[in-house]
Amino acid sequence: MKEPISGFSKLTKEEKINWLTKTYLNADPKAEEVLKQYWNKEENLQQLHDEFTENTISNYYLPFGIAPNFLINNELFAIPMAIEESSVIAAASKAAKFWGSRGGFKTEVIDTIKVGQVHFIYQGSEEKLELFFNELEPKLREAAAPITKNMEQRGGGIKSIELRERTTEVENYYQLHCNFETVDSMGANFINSCLEKFAEILEKEAAIWEDFNDEERNIEIVMSILSNYVPECIVRAEVSCSLDELSDDANFTGEHFAEKFLRAVKIAETEPYRAVTHNKGIMNGIDAVVLATGNDFRAIEAGVHAYAAKDGQYSSLTHAKVEDGIFKFWIEVPLALGTVGGLTSLHPLVKLAMEMLGKPNARKLMEIVAVAGLAQNFAAVKSLITTGIQKGHMKMHLMNILNQHNATLEEKEKLIEYYKTNVVSHSDVAVQLEKLRG
Ligand code: MEV
Repeated sequence: MKEPISGFSKLTKEEKINWLTKTYLNADPKAEEVLKQYWNKEENLQQLHDEFTENTISNYYLPFGIAPNFLINNELFAIPMAIEESSVIAAASKAAKFWGSRGGFKTEVIDTIKVGQVHFIYQGSEEKLELFFNELEPKLREAAAPITKNMEQRGGGIKSIELRERTTEVENYYQLHCNFETVDSMGANFINSCLEKFAEILEKEAAIWEDFNDEERNIEIVMSILSNYVPECIVRAEVSCSLDELSDDANFTGEHFAEKFLRAVKIAETEPYRAVTHNKGIMNGIDAVVLATGNDFRAIEAGVHAYAAKDGQYSSLTHAKVEDGIFKFWIEVPLALGTVGGLTSLHPLVKLAMEMLGKPNARKLMEIVAVAGLAQNFAAVKSLITTGIQKGHMKMHLMNILNQHNATLEEKEKLIEYYKTNVVSHSDVAVQLEKLRG
C-alpha cells in the first residue's frame, strides 16, 4: 500500500531516489543505476542543473544538433536544435540548402508588444470607474517606476494601460489590459511584477476614491498575470524564387510543383485537421530552436496555436502564392523570445547556442526561429506532395529501430548499407537482423 510522503523536497537526492525506487520501482537496483547514469560527473555542472528546478533526481537528455547553411538576410547561420524526432534536423538542413541557392530567407520583425492583464471585479457605475481610471493611470506608472527603471534604460517599459469592460462575459468583470516592451528579455518576471504592483495600487486607490460608494470602493482583484497570447509580437519570414528555379526534381516542372504546393497550403488554411499537423511540422523547427536557446517552449506553443485560431478557425501559419512567375512562401508567427535572463546565461549549452548564433538580440532570434519553422514546413510539404514522408522518415528512423533490437555496430553498418536501396520498415529490419544473426 502506497502512502503519501511529506517533506519529500527536504530529502537529499540519494534519499529521494531511495524512496522512489522502493515505493514505485520494486527497489530495482537497475532503476537507480539508470538515474545515476545521467548524472554529470562534474559536480558543479550537476549542481547547476539540480538547482534549475525542484526535486531533481537526474538529467533528461535530448539530442542537440545543428542545421547548417541557413542564409538569412544574406548572413549564414548554423542553427542549433534540441529535438528527439528523427528527420527534423535533416529536413531543416535540406531546406536550408535548397533555399540557400535561391536567395535564402528574408525576415522582418513586425512588432514586439507583449501583454499582461489585471483581472478584477467591480460592482458599480461604469462611468465612475472610467473617471477613476483616468486619475489612476499615472499613479500606476509612478508606482511601477522602480520596476521599470532599468527596462526603460534599455529602451523598453510600459507601452499602454487600458481599462476594458468585459461584464457581458463574466458578471462585473473588468481588466487593466497592459502592453509592454521588454526588449531582449522574454519579460515574464518584469511584466508580472508590474501587474502585481498595478493590482495593489488599483485596490488601494479604489478604497479611498471619494466618488465611489462602499460597494464600488471594494474592488476585488481576481489575478494579475502576463498573457502568452502575443498577436502583436510578430515576425515574418519568407522565401521566394522564380518558377523555373523551384523544382529540383526531374519528375516535376516548377509550375507543377508550385501548383501542388499551393494546394497543400490551401488545404491547411481551410481544413483544421490538416492545419494542426501542418503547424505541428512548423513547431518541430520552432520548438527545437526555442529549446536549444533556453526559451520557454510551452509559452511559444500556447501563443502560436492561439494565433493560428485568431480568425475563429484553426488555420495554417504559413501561406504561399505565385505572382508574375514568382513563387512566394511565408510565415507570420508570434514569438515572445528572450536572449537575456532565464537560462540564457546559466545553461552552458544554451550559452553556446547563443554564441554560435552570434549572440543575437531578441528580434534576431525571433527571425532565426521563424526561419526554422518555415524551413521545416517547406521540407515537410515538399515531401508530402512528392515522395511522401515515410521514405525519408523511416530511413532516418532506422537507427532507432536498430537500437530497439540491440543491433551491434557491425549489424548497423551492414543494414545501413542494405537500406540505401531498400525500403525500411520495422518488420523488415527484424527479418534482416535475424538473417544476419543466422
Ligand atoms: C511530423 O513530425 C511532421 C509532419 O507530419 C508535418 C506535416 O505533415 O506537414 C510531417
